[in-house]
Order: sequence, then C-alpha cells, then structure tokens
Amino acid sequence: MGMATGTKITTEQLQQRVLELKEQSHALILAHNYQRPEIQDIADFTGDSLELSRKSVGAKADVIVFCGVRFMAETAAILNPDSTVLLSQVDAGCPLAETIDVETLRQWKKRYPNATVIAYVNTTADIKAESDVCCTSANALDVVNAVLGQEILFIPDQNLGHYVSTMTDKRVILYPGSCYVHNRITVHDVNLAKQRYPQAKVLVHPECRPEVVSLADAVLSTSQMLHYARRSDDRLFIIGTEEGILHALRQQNPAKEFNIIAHDFICTDMKKTTLDVLIKTMELRKNVVDVPVEVARRARRAIDKMLDIT
Ligand code: 13P
Ligand code: SF4
Repeated sequence: MGMATGTKITTEQLQQRVLELKEQSHALILAHNYQRPEIQDIADFTGDSLELSRKSVGAKADVIVFCGVRFMAETAAILNPDSTVLLSQVDAGCPLAETIDVETLRQWKKRYPNATVIAYVNTTADIKAESDVCCTSANALDVVNAVLGQEILFIPDQNLGHYVSTMTDKRVILYPGSCYVHNRITVHDVNLAKQRYPQAKVLVHPECRPEVVSLADAVLSTSQMLHYARRSDDRLFIIGTEEGILHALRQQNPAKEFNIIAHDFICTDMKKTTLDVLIKTMELRKNVVDVPVEVARRARRAIDKMLDIT
C-alpha cells in the first residue's frame, strides 16, 4: 500500500501498512506491555520481559521486530541468533540499565568475591555477560532461591532487590540503581489514590520503592498484573506501574475499573515507538541489534540459567 500524500492517514491505515511489511519480510512483532495501544494491537505477541524472552527462543521468523527498549531487543537477539532483530526505535533505551557499567560491576565483584551475581534483565548485554544468572521481575525470588550461594549481589535495581530480600533467608547485597519512572511514586501518591478509591485493590510493580510496595495488595510483574486482574473477583484496581499496561487491563476486563496510581506514570523511552517510526524501521530494515559473538555467548549462559530455573 502506498501512502497517499496530502490526506490524513488514519491509525488503521498505518497499522495496515505495518501488517503488509510484516508479511513481506516474514517478521514476528513482539511488543512490551508498556507500548502504545496501537502498537500492542498489531503485535503478534505482547508480554513482560520474561514472556518476551521465552517467545524469542527458537522463534521461526526471518526478522523479529522488537517494540520496546534496547535491553529487551538485545535479549531477543542473544536468544535467537538465527533471526535478524530490529529495535523499533534506535534510541529507545532503559535508563535503569545504564546505571551500571562493566568496570563498576567488576569493582563490586572484587568487593564481594563470594557473592553470586544476579542481573536483572534490565541490563546491557555486557553486564549480563559478567553475571552468573539473570532474572526478571516475574522470577527474581525463584532465581535468588535457586542459585547455590547464600550471598547474592543483586544488580542494578535496589527496589526489586530489596523486595526479594524480604522474602528470602539469603543475604542480598543491593546495588544503588533504580528506575526513575517507578521510583518517583511516593507513599503520598498511594494514600491519595486509596482515599479516592478506598475499595480498590492496589497492584504495584516491584521496581517501586519499599515503602510503596509495603502498602500494596500485590507486587507483580506487568504480565502477572494482567493474570491477577483476570482471575480476581474484585472490580476496582489501583495500578502502580507504567500506564501502557492499562490498555490490556481494560481490553481484557471490560467490566472492571483500573486507575493509575499517579498522573504521568510514563516511560518516555517506551513511548518513542509510534506507528510511523515502526514503519520506517521495517521499510528500511534498520536498527539491527548486533551483539558481539563472545558477549552474546557469555550473556546467553546467564539468560539460559534463568530460563532453566523458571
Ligand atoms: P516487566 O518484566 O514486569 O514487564 O517489567 C519490565 C520493566 O521494564 C519494568 O519497568
Ligand atoms: Fe527501564 Fe523504568 Fe522504562 Fe522499565 S519503566 S524500561 S525500568 S526506564
């Protein structure tokens, strides 16, 4: 389909163009739960970091188009070296992943030589390659409990690490990284939301601060929130994660009400992927994610260990 000039192109036409390009290039489109609704709607699969990693393994597609942020596309590329992985928008990064570099990690490893290094997937491939095992927000506790060591160096999200530390006997050493999007939420925000919706169940992401997490009814990865809401008999929810999740929550539960915990709960990097941007990426087959072979080999070891555990 050629795009007409001078007339306003509708969302549906842009989505149609993405689907044409997808068919032409035998592509699989993966999208994170925080993506814009119009992107989620044309994806072959939407999910949290763990589900998207699983989908990447052995995906039989010439091209995987990853609508999300760089560390997620890198993970897909590491897990599926036979496919070309395109990141929907070249500069969609995760500031949390940038809070630790290899030099700093090596210093921390020297300081705690007996610690098992568990890297949240929100890290660069270089960091994964230097770590013992990865985890996501959906399986962090399982991973901590499954590894042999009693001492864990948990990088880089201190809030997720702290949450896990409250549920295990192991010693969890926290690295002082955090996600600016989740870390911004305060007890005051939770209390205001609860005042407004006193009957609501509060679901928060473990990247939120410990004092916020302690006020929640459930602490869940993004896809776990979707499962929880579908199964729950409750009808009213306060949601403590990036607002992109509201799209699927509302679509899957038309009779239930979902309210975001605070205004502007937005990850700007996740929102960089628009339909226009995605079309350009697919037309030009650009933003190929290239992880050096040796880094990919070592990073894959850490990711595979995680997938074996869960
Ligand atoms: P999930 O794996 O829970 O989807 O979280 C990813 C993320 O980036 C949270 O900010
Ligand atoms: Fe990274 Fe936070 Fe955005 Fe998730 S919400 S991708 S952790 S910056």
